[in-house]
Amino acid sequence: MQNTIVIFGASGDLTSRKLVPALYNLMRTGALPPATRIVGFSRTAMSDDAWRASLRQTTMQHAGAVPFSEESWDHFATSIFYEPGDIDSFDDVARLKERLFSLEGTRETTRVYYLATAPQFYGPIVSVLRSLGMSDESQGPRRIVVEKPFGTDLATARALNVHLHAAFHESQIYRIDHYLGKESVQNILALRFANTIFEPIWNRRYIDHVQITVAEEVAVGRRGAYYESSGVLRDMFQNHLLQLLMVTAMEAPVRFRATAVRDEKVKVLEAIRTLDLQEVAAAGMRGQYEGYLSEPGVAPGSQMATFGAIRLEIDNWRWQGVPFYLRSGKVMSCRTTQIVIAFRQPPLELFAEGSKIQGEANRLVIQIQPAEGIQLHFHTKVPGDGMRLRLTDLEFSYSREFKGRLPEAYEPLLLDVLTGDASLFARSDEVEKSWEIIDPFVRAWTSPDMRPIDRYEPGNWGPLSSSDWMESQGRTWFDMCPVLT
Ligand code: BG6
Repeated sequence: MQNTIVIFGASGDLTSRKLVPALYNLMRTGALPPATRIVGFSRTAMSDDAWRASLRQTTMQHAGAVPFSEESWDHFATSIFYEPGDIDSFDDVARLKERLFSLEGTRETTRVYYLATAPQFYGPIVSVLRSLGMSDESQGPRRIVVEKPFGTDLATARALNVHLHAAFHESQIYRIDHYLGKESVQNILALRFANTIFEPIWNRRYIDHVQITVAEEVAVGRRGAYYESSGVLRDMFQNHLLQLLMVTAMEAPVRFRATAVRDEKVKVLEAIRTLDLQEVAAAGMRGQYEGYLSEPGVAPGSQMATFGAIRLEIDNWRWQGVPFYLRSGKVMSCRTTQIVIAFRQPPLELFAEGSKIQGEANRLVIQIQPAEGIQLHFHTKVPGDGMRLRLTDLEFSYSREFKGRLPEAYEPLLLDVLTGDASLFARSDEVEKSWEIIDPFVRAWTSPDMRPIDRYEPGNWGPLSSSDWMESQGRTWFDMCPVLT
């Protein structure tokens, strides 16, 4: 079977920084099926060769640590094509369709439509694909990949699902969240479901709470206009943070297949407690970094959150009474994405006296990025007199254990789309359910009754009030830059 990946938004950033470098790396390592071509479509007038030349430059920059190979690129470039056109023009897309047929011939082809455009074009693209019969599978599978943001709230996500379903079956739709392509995120599934030792303690009996932090060093920068309509809740929580929560909290699926995995993930979202507006306001706190207001595209006096922390409760047998704290922010102390499983204190503090670590309990720190790995924190007796204790650790580090580069998140996900494995993609009900959880926080945080947003100095763990908020619940944030090196 041959494959065609049609990229809408071919001249955009996502294509040049992520998609094409990922496909190039897959080809270079021999993972990309040999008969795979890429066809770009966007308004910029360009020839095949001009697009190839521009992608060559950007791929050199973004393909990662391995030295760029001219030979591999030249080989790869022969399967790259470009068709200029306007997505709003039926005739232009009809021309694209002709071009695809002339490239594919009569051979059965898996064709993937990748929506790498701004989200306002998703609707028009789906409409035109539908009117041209381009989702028809009589000549091979037809799949569509939809990037985030998938809607801006529950209503728009529902409308987009309805629109997509008018042209494609759910099984043809791949809603991508690049966090699920990260090796260390997929490894959470291995850690939990390929080992027996964690399962007995992975529940309310042993776990006090869970912290999921996605801290970024970068500022909003040139994305001010987008960020003003999204803020940290829509940009990070509805998708990446909830995905991390789902893989941490889900039950073991009966098999590692799309339906079974996604059923279990959705059950987690369904069990998240619904809060009224007052409870929502108390279940989270927000902040904005000093300097955000001077970013281009940001409204004067904007109250948009660039930092957020929320507490979610999962009302099921495993997690009842174990809060999940989710937090993310821009311009924080360091770049780190980590999940901290904070265990309960022992029932009796035998050695509390003289111990410096009084109050600290066991922790499993899953370091998603950078410095991917896992660390288990536990108490050890310090040699010498008395029962002095210190927190020590056992650790597993990807870079120490496995040589070579870790694949970029888009690489496994693109392969999954080609092979038709939707396990790591969001289903329609999953996306809608996530908006149902995040919408009330968006409403509360943008309400005129909300007190003015707390500011934080760049290079911190959010506003000071974030620590106070956590302490008021008898807990402390695990504010550590990557624990592994
Ligand atoms: C994107 C957000 O989805 O994820 C960005 O729009 C954010 O604001 C990015 O910076 C973070 O991704 P990663 O893979 O760098 O953690």
